[in-house]
Amino acid sequence: MKSILGIGNALTDILAVLPDDTLLREYHLPLGSMQHVDMETGDRIWSALKEIGVKYVPGGSAANTITCTSIFGMPSGYIGKIGDDELGQLFKSTMEQFGVKTTMLHSDKSSGRCMVFITGANAERTFADYMGAALEMGPEDLKPEYFEGYDYFHIEGYLVQNQELIAKATQMAKEAGCIISIDMASYNVVESNNAFLHNLVDKYVDIVFANETESRAFTKIEDPREALRKLAQHCDTAIVKVGKHGSWLRRGDEEHYIPAWPANPVDATGAGDTYAAGFIYAHSLGMPLKECGEIGSIIAAKVVEVIGTKIDVPRWRDAKLEIKELVAKVNG
Ligand SMILES: Nc1ncnc2c1ncn2[C@@H]1O[C@H](COP(=O)(O)OP(=O)(O)OP(=O)(O)O)[C@@H](O)[C@H]1O
Ligand SMILES: [Mg+2]
Repeated sequence: MKSILGIGNALTDILAVLPDDTLLREYHLPLGSMQHVDMETGDRIWSALKEIGVKYVPGGSAANTITCTSIFGMPSGYIGKIGDDELGQLFKSTMEQFGVKTTMLHSDKSSGRCMVFITGANAERTFADYMGAALEMGPEDLKPEYFEGYDYFHIEGYLVQNQELIAKATQMAKEAGCIISIDMASYNVVESNNAFLHNLVDKYVDIVFANETESRAFTKIEDPREALRKLAQHCDTAIVKVGKHGSWLRRGDEEHYIPAWPANPVDATGAGDTYAAGFIYAHSLGMPLKECGEIGSIIAAKVVEVIGTKIDVPRWRDAKLEIKELVAKVNG
């Protein structure tokens, strides 16, 4: 089985169900907003939440993808940066429980986290992000041996904000002979790093995952299918995901539309990360482009049926069966 290494912001979601909005007011967090907070505020909020009782879910886009490729059976590695604290340890040990080989770098800052306040009858969510140690990862942290032996290298677009880090990482991955993929993460990441991303994709990236708004930001083309065609001129394989409407894939002159796999959606969180894992897994098996998209869609349809980013065991079992049938058909 081919192997994959991912790099990303090592962030843990800290979820707390609050009796009322007292804490939100105390920390000046408007209901439903997403704010970045500094270390001091981040640590104070976390202490306050601990007293209430919280749920920890290690995440971050690339970490989610890599956890998923590991469950598919690909030898999977992850590079990220954490603080010297229990949250960092939890991140590392959770990744390892899923079979991921971690290279966790250490920072003096405390570990990155996304604190999620759940309030009111409608379970409204308010976010306070503290990136902390994750933001401290830099090019000087990387060593060529981290990349050796891997077949794929997957980058989360959020890291592009640290351009030197990504430039060095992709260079090292290329030298190690990896196939390089990137998930564009968010349209504002693409907008604010457009020239850098174009250069990166042109020079190094083989597989690009973008959703509708990200492909629009990259190509300046409104229509996802037209944007796909433009995007595909910059890389070997381009994927434009259009949520519940499915995805578009293109390699050279080959193009496919893949409808979304049937699902009873409850929470779309993690759909994109999981799709990428399914696609890369299928790609590593040598599946044709169309089936890579279908396998991405099958596993993404499972994650939208659960709250959060972790697919439960029965759904994993269903997905693996559905994928096995598809692979058997191709291998005829
Ligand atoms: N409601 C749904 N039902 C079935 N499949 C879905 C649904 N929503 C998304 N998917 C699948 O997940 C894939 C990726 O979703 P989406 O287009 O939302 O990506 P994304 O915007 O990158 O997601 P994310 O918000 O996780 O970053 C889609 O192409 C589709 O196959
Ligand atoms: Mg996405």
